[in-house]
Amino acid sequence: MRTVVVTGSAGLIGSETVKRFAKDGARIVGIDNDMRAQFFGAEASTKKIRDDLIANVRGYEHHDLDIRDASGVLELFKEQSGTIDAIVHTASQPSHDWAARDPQTDFTVNANGTLNLLEAARKFSPEAPFIFTSTNKVYGDTPNRLPLRELPKRWEIKPGHEYEPGISETMSIDYTKHSLFGASKTAADLLVQEYGRYFGMPTVSFRGGCLTGPAHAGTELHGFLSYLMICTVNERPYRVFGYKGKQVRDNIHSFDLVEAFVQYIRAMEIPLRIARHSRRDLHGGATFVIQESRFVNRRSTHELTT
Ligand SMILES: NC(=O)c1ccc[n+]([C@@H]2O[C@H](COP(=O)([O-])OP(=O)(O)OC[C@H]3O[C@@H](n4cnc5c(N)ncnc54)[C@H](O)[C@@H]3O)[C@@H](O)[C@H]2O)c1
Repeated sequence: MRTVVVTGSAGLIGSETVKRFAKDGARIVGIDNDMRAQFFGAEASTKKIRDDLIANVRGYEHHDLDIRDASGVLELFKEQSGTIDAIVHTASQPSHDWAARDPQTDFTVNANGTLNLLEAARKFSPEAPFIFTSTNKVYGDTPNRLPLRELPKRWEIKPGHEYEPGISETMSIDYTKHSLFGASKTAADLLVQEYGRYFGMPTVSFRGGCLTGPAHAGTELHGFLSYLMICTVNERPYRVFGYKGKQVRDNIHSFDLVEAFVQYIRAMEIPLRIARHSRRDLHGGATFVIQESRFVNRRSTHELTT
């Protein structure tokens, strides 16, 4: 593997991706402008992680670029043209509650930023797998309409229901309240699918639920498990929002999610080799949507959408 472009490279998932692919000897082109500090304040800054990657990860090259800057993104991809083997796009405004405060910024980062990257990839690296970190919020509040049983400490889905092993990609994304964040991510998710189907690019949306790991810069509006630990250690009160505190959340470790990215790239290697001879072989069949229930062990727990 030669070069992997990672957006949001200093964030929870981005930094895990950088380390994983650098371990395999890849050169990493990281893009992150520490916008997390702008969203959630200094305590959520990912600057320390960025500095650690620059100092300690061999082959890591940092770009303090805003993914909303279409010409800057194009220019960077042009410079890397012919060397890019994969793109992992994790940069995002990641909170529903924050999105309602500033829908313009949320949408331009999540939707337009993704479009800028897809366009740059289409022009300069159309054969490289394009991995997008989407969200289960594309289903909006539809999961709340599932037949749930209230137990003393948790909500559980009715046994035997088709979604008992986990919600699949077949759940409708229509007729639902997404939240503004869910709407901007759904727009991006659809664009990622469309660049696969329309242009034949190897694109994939990984629809995560609750992701966690050592690099999470937890704050009240994002990164609940990390924030819960920060509150516990510092003896600060932790506020529970809604659903009687009985929401059940599966948490996926960033390491496991990045392993799923690695598996996807490996699985794409054969079709990509064929595509180098005949680009048409990829048309219409190269895009995937993967709901988290397919990349974690299946358990009968469900996340309620807040
Ligand atoms: N963490 C979760 O629980 C969770 C759940 C489902 C989906 N996701 C998705 O996974 C992805 C990664 O999430 P995360 O938890 O690693 O987020 P994160 O906030 O830790 O990392 C995102 C990084 O992107 C950077 N960034 C934001 N806007 C940018 C911009 N305009 N230009 C350049 N860089 C920018 C931030 O500074 C930050 O370092 C996101 O797309 C998110 O929507 C996360």
